[in-house]
Amino acid sequence: MSAARPAPPVVLLVSGPNLQLLGERDPAVYGTARLADHVARASAAATERGLVLEHLQADAEADLVAAVHQARGRVAAIVVNAGALTHYGWALHDALATFAGPVVELHLSNPEAREPWRRRSVIAPVADGTIAGFGGLGYELAVAAAAGLLAARSAPGGRPTLPS
Ligand code: DQA
Repeated sequence: MSAARPAPPVVLLVSGPNLQLLGERDPAVYGTARLADHVARASAAATERGLVLEHLQADAEADLVAAVHQARGRVAAIVVNAGALTHYGWALHDALATFAGPVVELHLSNPEAREPWRRRSVIAPVADGTIAGFGGLGYELAVAAAAGLLAARSAPGGRPTLPS
């Protein structure tokens, strides 16, 4: 009898408030694709890299915090588009700070090029990096970044912080 194949590492995609309205909400800024389209794209990018994607959307910060707690020790990496919580979600910041694996911050739009209040991210200090301004392509890029960080961290002979 052959040994069971190990389960593929999980990437958790976390979507914050109002992102379930993508497709209807401000299409000039966020595009016309729906959240389910972005999740499918991220999922395909994960599968290509030997990872499996899980997704959770919530409007309430408490639910996102709980998802991060449940990810600790179980999930390999987190991709997070925190929506407006990006700019003031300190509880989500604190939860992500307890997660040991790679964290990739993601935005469809480029908050740096928008209203001044969007220019501050409280997620950025606890993320390995940020993908912003590339619309739906960002979902693929964010999963690729998470996979690169995981590979770099599991490389023999050290623990480089950046993928090559
Ligand atoms: C967003 C940018 C945030 O400022 C905004 O509140 C969102 C979406 C983005 O994906 O561009 O809800 O995170």
